[in-house]
Order: sequence, then structure tokens, then C-alpha cells
Amino acid sequence: MPRVIAIEDSQYVGLDDCTAAIAAAGFDPRDEDSLVHAALWLRRLGNNHTFLGDLLIEELASRHRQDVLGSAYGPQVIMLAPPNGQFFIRANLWPSLDEHMVRASGGASFVYGLPHDHNFDFLTLGYFGPGYWSDYYEVDYTAITGWRGEPVPSLRFIERSRLELGKILHYRAHLDVHAQHPADSLSVSLNVMHTSGAQGWLDQYRYDVDRGELGAILTPGPTEAFLKVAIGLGSDEALDLGHRFALRHPSDRLRLNAWDALAARETDVAAKDALWREAEGCGSRLVEVEARTRRAELVG
Ligand SMILES: [Fe+2]
Repeated sequence: MPRVIAIEDSQYVGLDDCTAAIAAAGFDPRDEDSLVHAALWLRRLGNNHTFLGDLLIEELASRHRQDVLGSAYGPQVIMLAPPNGQFFIRANLWPSLDEHMVRASGGASFVYGLPHDHNFDFLTLGYFGPGYWSDYYEVDYTAITGWRGEPVPSLRFIERSRLELGKILHYRAHLDVHAQHPADSLSVSLNVMHTSGAQGWLDQYRYDVDRGELGAILTPGPTEAFLKVAIGLGSDEALDLGHRFALRHPSDRLRLNAWDALAARETDVAAKDALWREAEGCGSRLVEVEARTRRAELVG
């Protein structure tokens, strides 16, 4: 269960002051003082009941043709302060089942009902509305290899609760798992998200909580896409790089991706099978199990 940060403060600040204060002190969630400092400024921003509405109106009125709030997220997320190497700030919209957008697009479009962990720490504050519901679990990340269908005996249910107005939670990377459910009416949360250079190599997972299994890795990065394109184009250098990544890259996720890209070049079933047999013995437990599954799919 994410940790409740019970911090009271009646000051309210604007977005720029909040961002500047956290940037000046830095945001390191492993450091309690740093965590509490960021939570205090998030509380103060949350006390400002007009900044987000004002910002949205301003964007709609004057910059509607520019993607100034652009982010890799969908329309559910509003980027408030862009990544600066240590953190970024965003607002998240949590529609209820009564909203047209949920009826039109389905709850999955809003990540509802998807049990997942996070490969980053973040703070969240209930800013508007009754707040999303969430089923909370905890997991032992160090005991997970990452293959699809892997049993996760450490996955345990903690409680169902909601991110109520004014509540601040610290979601701990690789420990807290949650499946969110629609808010009873439209709600908004504010997040201070931790970022680090290593984050892209630490995997985020989805889980099948009914079966107590790992569902899949959720976080393919741009490297995977570039690698697939390069190997698919098939220059000698790209194939050499693909083989070296497949055999030795520190990220098991990228190793599997390299094997997948190499296998995609083979049109012959026997050649694919030979490649996956080689992959099985490459020394990565994740690749070994996934390679076995791929070989079974070839004959099945
Ligand atoms: Fe989440």
C-alpha cells in the first residue's frame, strides 16, 4: 500500500513556485527529507484551487493550435512541469463511468482495471473530486524474472481505498502494485514523478492478480523500436549489434527484444526454431523461458 504522507500546511502557491522549490532542493524519494519537502510543496500547490482550471482555460483560449502541453501520455494526463532530470509534475484526470469519454472509449483507455507496478517513485495528491478507487497489492520485485505467466507468490492484496481529496500518497517503485477503478465522479490528481537515468532499464510489469502471475513487461522503450527497425533493415552492422545485444546486453528485456527481431527475419520455421534454441541457452532466465514459449508456438 502506498505510504500516506500526513503533512498539513495552509499555504498555497502557484505552479512555478512549486516547481522551482522542488527543483532547488532536488527530489530523491530515497531521502526522507527530500520526499517530505516535495510532499510539502505538492500540498501547497494542491491548496491552490484555481491554478489548474486557469491554466486549462488559458491553453484553450490562446494556444489551442499548439501542442504545448504535449507529452507521451494520452489526453488523461496534463504535463505541468516537464522532466528536468529528477522529476516532473503532471495532473491526471480520472473520469467516472458516467463520463461520455469512458462510455465511448472504455475503461481500459484510462488504465482502469490494469494491475501494475511502477518503475519509479511518485507522490500523488487528490486535487479535485472524490478520487479514483484502487485495489492495492505489494510484491517482491527482486524475486521476479519477468516472463509472461511467471508465478508471483509474493503478490499480496493489501486493501481497496481511494485517493480522497487532499490525501498524499507515496507510491514506492517496484513495491506497490495497484489496479485502479473509476472515480465516483470526475476527479483529478497531481503527481510529482521521480525520474532517473536507470529507470528505462528497470522493468514495469502488469499482473494477473486472480492467477497470481506476471502478465507482461509494460515498458518497452524507444531502443526496442530502433533495434527492431535496424535489424529488420539488415545491414551487417545492425545484425552484428543485434547478436551482441541478444547475447550480452545487461537488460534481459532488450536481449529478448533482440532475439525477437532476429527471429522476425527468418521466414523458415526450422530456422526460427534453431534461433530460439540458441536463445534458450544464452544464459538469461527470462530469454530461456520466453524462447521455449516461442518454440512451442512455432509447432502449435
Ligand atoms: Fe499506477
